[in-house]
Amino acid sequence: MRDWEKEKQIIIERGKGSYLTDIDGKTYLDGVSSLWVTVHGHRKKELDEAVTGQLKKIAHTTMLGLANVPAVMLAEKLVTIAPKGLARVFYSDSGSTAVEIALKIAFQYWQLKGPVYQRKTGFMSLTEAYHGDTIGSVSVGGIDLFHTIYKPLLFQTRKIESPYCYRCKYGLTYPDCKMTCLMHAEREIQKYASVTAALIIEPLVQGAAGMLMQPPGFLQRIRDLCSKNNILMIADEVATGFGRTGKMFACEHEAVVPDIMAVAKGITGGYLPLAATLIKEEIYREFLGEYQEFRTFFHGHTYTGNPLACAAAIANIDLFKKDKTLQKLQVKIALLKKELKRFAALEHVGEIRQKGFMVGIELVQDRRTKRPYPLETKTGHRVMMECRKQGLIIRPLGNVIVLMPPLSISKEELTALLKIVERSIKLVTA
Ligand SMILES: Cc1ncc(COP(=O)(O)O)c(C=O)c1O
Repeated sequence: MRDWEKEKQIIIERGKGSYLTDIDGKTYLDGVSSLWVTVHGHRKKELDEAVTGQLKKIAHTTMLGLANVPAVMLAEKLVTIAPKGLARVFYSDSGSTAVEIALKIAFQYWQLKGPVYQRKTGFMSLTEAYHGDTIGSVSVGGIDLFHTIYKPLLFQTRKIESPYCYRCKYGLTYPDCKMTCLMHAEREIQKYASVTAALIIEPLVQGAAGMLMQPPGFLQRIRDLCSKNNILMIADEVATGFGRTGKMFACEHEAVVPDIMAVAKGITGGYLPLAATLIKEEIYREFLGEYQEFRTFFHGHTYTGNPLACAAAIANIDLFKKDKTLQKLQVKIALLKKELKRFAALEHVGEIRQKGFMVGIELVQDRRTKRPYPLETKTGHRVMMECRKQGLIIRPLGNVIVLMPPLSISKEELTALLKIVERSIKLVTA
């Protein structure tokens, strides 16, 4: 915090497309999509109009005991675009709350299902996982730097090994490894199935861990293990959802249908805070009962299903079709892949990880031994500061340079962004 107090703060005043402008009139490329949320760019006409149009009708009305038009319409759209089988929608305001809701629903589901299942109270998650900053989501998290101090406040969860292929603890290489790391998950799941309510996973990419990519097939195997062992699978698509990985949801890459799915971030295209937890019909049905049975899911946030946010989300989802967002994205993903290749020649680039428009460039002190930069060298931070000087906003995760441009970025802007990052890495690590 001392460093932060000393640094000159950038205060953003406005934005347009892929650009942000600060109060001094300096313009920056938004290389982090305003924390992984911007999909169709800033000041997108259709999104502006959706919000202002809704504003003329009503800004907020409660979802506790009532419904509102945009919330109903959005739920219908979400169910249509989500993996088939997810049939019910519960709104909240952030990725963290969407995860809390997923955990509570999973827990309550087994309690409601009857005495045979009431021991299924535990949760499994991956090492290095990040699911948000509230106490429940931190409990299923696994990033020591962020989470260790809160340990006394957290409920216990079982951790399964996250695949971090660059630093494989078995010293193996994919695909020859035959995903040895999954044996740990397999053992844990089989052993603790009778006391586990759900397993939560960030599908394909563990974002906050430093863009750790799961090898192909990993997610599918986790799905199979959960099904075979009667454990609910929660997919946290907060970061990966709404096109980030090149498909609408990351689960689609492996034809996986989770039992519960949490979405937030890109849902409104980066306009307003909104989240949703989607569940299968079968789970929803367990919560039905007579008044006096109190099977209700007693959970509700004040701004749940806010009409302005839902209107923005509807327009955002409609834009995927109108602007052919995912089709156009494929060319840019390929361009990104091609351009990133030259980064591999940089002396301190250890690994380049990419899935769609999610990129992590891991900087290392020594490429041969993969020795990381000590955190106190603030290497990632210094690259970020250099990028700022050159007109680009990014936000690293330790020594990993994270690139998350808006899906609507032009090819020229993308090329310019990569040039700045390359120059900044070179300068800082020289
Ligand atoms: C996978 C994942 N889940 C949950 C969250 C928490 O979302 P929020 O910051 O909206 O609470 C994040 C945020 O980065 C995330 O990446």
